[in-house]
Amino acid sequence: MDNLILIILVTISPGVWSGDWRVIVEDECALKGTSVVIKCEYDYPSAHIVISTSWSKALYVDGNWKQFLLSQIPSPPNHFQYVGNRWSDCKLKINDVQPSDEGAYFFNFVTTFNRWRSKTFASLSVKELTAVVQPSTVTEGDVVRLTCVSGCPTPVSIVWFRDGQRVPNPVFQAGREDAGRYHCAVLGQETARSASVALSVQYAPRKVKLSMSPSVVKGSSVTFTCSSDAVPPVTQRGYSLYKDGHFISSGQNHTISDVQPSHGGLYLCQAWNDISWRGIARINSTEVHLDVQYRPENLSVSMDPPHVVEGSSVNLSCSCAANPAADNYTWYRASGSGSSFSPLIQVGSGQVLSLPSVEASHTGVYVCQARNPLGQNNSTEVLLALKEKDHGSRSFPILAGFGVLVFVTLLLLLLLFWLKQRTRAEKKVHTSYEDEVTYSTVTFKPRNPGPPHHTNSSRVAPDSRFKGGENDNSVIYSSVAKSS
Ligand SMILES: *[C@@H]1O[C@H](CO)[C@@H](O)[C@H](O)[C@H]1NC(C)=O
Ligand SMILES: *[C@@H]1O[C@H](CO)[C@@H](O)[C@H](O)[C@H]1NC(C)=O
Ligand SMILES: *[C@@H]1O[C@H](CO)[C@@H](O)[C@H](O)[C@H]1NC(C)=O
Ligand SMILES: *[C@@H]1O[C@H](CO)[C@@H](O)[C@H](O)[C@H]1NC(C)=O
Ligand SMILES: *[C@@H]1O[C@H](CO)[C@@H](O)[C@H](O)[C@H]1NC(C)=O
Ligand SMILES: *[C@@H]1O[C@H](CO)[C@@H](O)[C@H](O)[C@H]1NC(C)=O
Repeated sequence: MDNLILIILVTISPGVWSGDWRVIVEDECALKGTSVVIKCEYDYPSAHIVISTSWSKALYVDGNWKQFLLSQIPSPPNHFQYVGNRWSDCKLKINDVQPSDEGAYFFNFVTTFNRWRSKTFASLSVKELTAVVQPSTVTEGDVVRLTCVSGCPTPVSIVWFRDGQRVPNPVFQAGREDAGRYHCAVLGQETARSASVALSVQYAPRKVKLSMSPSVVKGSSVTFTCSSDAVPPVTQRGYSLYKDGHFISSGQNHTISDVQPSHGGLYLCQAWNDISWRGIARINSTEVHLDVQYRPENLSVSMDPPHVVEGSSVNLSCSCAANPAADNYTWYRASGSGSSFSPLIQVGSGQVLSLPSVEASHTGVYVCQARNPLGQNNSTEVLLALKEKDHGSRSFPILAGFGVLVFVTLLLLLLLFWLKQRTRAEKKVHTSYEDEVTYSTVTFKPRNPGPPHHTNSSRVAPDSRFKGGENDNSVIYSSVAKSS
């Protein structure tokens, strides 16, 4: 029993090697956010038994350095943790080290017969990790090196994070997805981390996109907006708009406030930044088609053939500009002539109005109405009038007049011949009627008199040549026959 007590006493007895009063501490350097253990051993004469231990810290208060027990210093729970024992080990652990923890730490203990305050102290310095990203601005494809600099000499294992995600390799070729904020941390103690440093990866514009409402109604307004993903971002001057391959404007937005059909076409925009100038030049968006819709306009009606005679056929065709194309044509007619027309009545539909056999009842003015989903519009009025058949040829009256002249001439010659024969015969029978005179008059009129100034009649002697008669539409010829 006595032996057992002795063994226990020897086992718990401290300071076995010297028995002097002393405390041995080591200075420490800790990274902010890590836990640090301040190493400490103490010794005292073997006759003493340790009753209590404590750590204190020197604080500069009111112009003097004073020691405060750690329990007196405001700190989060378990910030200071005594991890030593009652006989030789006096280690102190500080969790989540902060810069305010820097300073001089003293170990004190009380024994059965004495109290001891350490003459030496452990100095704690608190440092940080510093992340270095080299270079911090790169063009896609360039190599980036991440370096983590620790303020403390003790080597630590480092891990890297980009925007919270582990980065596997501290040396890499930058892609655009590598841009972000980087920090390094102590492996296993990720709360001990550096401030974060940005890596900017520059690249030429991509996803260049032209947006607008693709289908607009004439007269409304349309806005083109060009967007892109680029670093550095594309400036206003870095955008341009093209229509059918021709430059329209520069800038990110372009507005046409009164859209006309001529604005329809294929549009694209271009974007460039400093990076693309160095390399790939300007980047095109895909082409977007602008479709300008409008109701029918510029309606015109053509008549085939242009002049119509009774009984012939005629086609009236309606054409117009419209988008979408006109899909419904309606024909109206107002019958009548001169200044009095009946109201318009619907007479047909379809782009071509065919009249296979024109009659008087078909005459009048025609209007074509074209319709598309946006609305309708009317043509101007077109007159359909019948031409009289005789007016079919302009040369007919001239030919007719010439024919008549030839006929009359022959007739007169025959008459003269017949009269001469008869006079000769009668002379032989009745010589007493020597001075008898016969008058004969022939009047001829073409069926259709020409203009008034052509209606003068002329008298011509029977033996005269017929001259200047070509234009005479009405001629009276007189012949005087004298028996000789
Ligand atoms: C980009 O668009 C412009 C204008 O239409 C054209 O001249 C050029 O050829 C296009 N470039 C490419 C790469 O398609
Ligand atoms: C209608 O005619 C006018 C005058 O000729 C012309 O300026 C306009 O472009 C035409 N409209 C359409 C849609 O063709
Ligand atoms: C109808 O057509 C005329 C001539 O083409 C045009 O000036 C007018 O704007 C059109 N009306 C409507 C309502 O479209
Ligand atoms: C009118 O059109 C019809 C068919 O649409 C055609 O058969 C006819 O020959 C045309 N008539 C004239 C005078 O062009
Ligand atoms: C054409 O338009 C007229 C007038 O609105 C309508 O009565 C007719 O049904 C339309 N025809 C077609 C084929 O759409
Ligand atoms: C076209 O004529 C029809 C029939 O007269 C009329 O109802 C309609 O309002 C006219 N349309 C236009 C745009 O003038």
